[in-house]
Amino acid sequence: MSEAVIRMRGVRKRYGRTEALAGVDLEVARGEFVGLAGVNGAGKTTLIKCLLDFLAVDAGAIEIFGVRHREPRARARLAFLPERFVPPYYLTGEDFLRYLLSLSGETYRERAAREMLAALDLEPDALARPVRSYSKGMTQKLGLAGTFLSRRDLYVLDEPMSGLDPKARALVKGQLAGLRAAGATLLFTSHALADVEEVCDRMVVLHRGVRYFSGTPRSLCEHYAERSIEQAFLHCIEGPGHDRHNDNAEPHAADRR
Ligand SMILES: Nc1ncnc2c1ncn2[C@@H]1O[C@H](COP(=O)(O)OP(=O)(O)O)[C@@H](O)[C@H]1O
Ligand SMILES: [Mg+2]
Repeated sequence: MSEAVIRMRGVRKRYGRTEALAGVDLEVARGEFVGLAGVNGAGKTTLIKCLLDFLAVDAGAIEIFGVRHREPRARARLAFLPERFVPPYYLTGEDFLRYLLSLSGETYRERAAREMLAALDLEPDALARPVRSYSKGMTQKLGLAGTFLSRRDLYVLDEPMSGLDPKARALVKGQLAGLRAAGATLLFTSHALADVEEVCDRMVVLHRGVRYFSGTPRSLCEHYAERSIEQAFLHCIEGPGHDRHNDNAEPHAADRR
């Protein structure tokens, strides 16, 4: 079996009375592209914040590259793009990229930055402009550019396509294909099922903090005898949770209890 890059077992997280994660298992193998799908409020962002130790979990175990997630070195090989990414308003695009790359111990290279901006259809003069003058889509592209420039083994992207027009979405998918070719691993969230279907090898449906499904987008459709992923998804979240339709061979200790 291939090496697990991410391993989450029985992860629970509450915000007061809201149970955001009710004992979630997730495993992502090296080189795998996994899309976390779910309606707004399903728990996707909470899962990512727990993974990265931005939130303390109430229960469960998490490892990244075999390192316990509470250890800072667990995050050394990953790049993360948060949901609703907002760079410090007083920076220029170039300042921001320099800062982000310095955090991961890398050097800012003007040419690589310009090429990445062009690849994401962000005009080159954006580098000299303060980010506060950017539109929402430009800001998102800058965040993606910084993430893709800090070359890592694992990319964790929370709603990477949000605020992007169709051209930009297509360009981002092109960049993701490049990451795949380079052997990287991807965990991303999206409430846009078409993006999940197109980008991922495996989708995990999260609903009300419970994992409802793990398998290929195609197997989700086949299971519910639906041609459209939207319809299959709706059937899935209307049914009982706890991965009853899991077609993935990974063992689930929590499911056997
Ligand atoms: N900081 C918070 N305080 C209280 N409740 C929160 C907080 N963040 C998220 N929640 C709640 O937890 C649930 C999961 O939210 P979230 O992880 O953001 O879902 P998603 O990313 O799938 O839209 C929702 O019910 C949301 O309202
Ligand atoms: Mg979210």
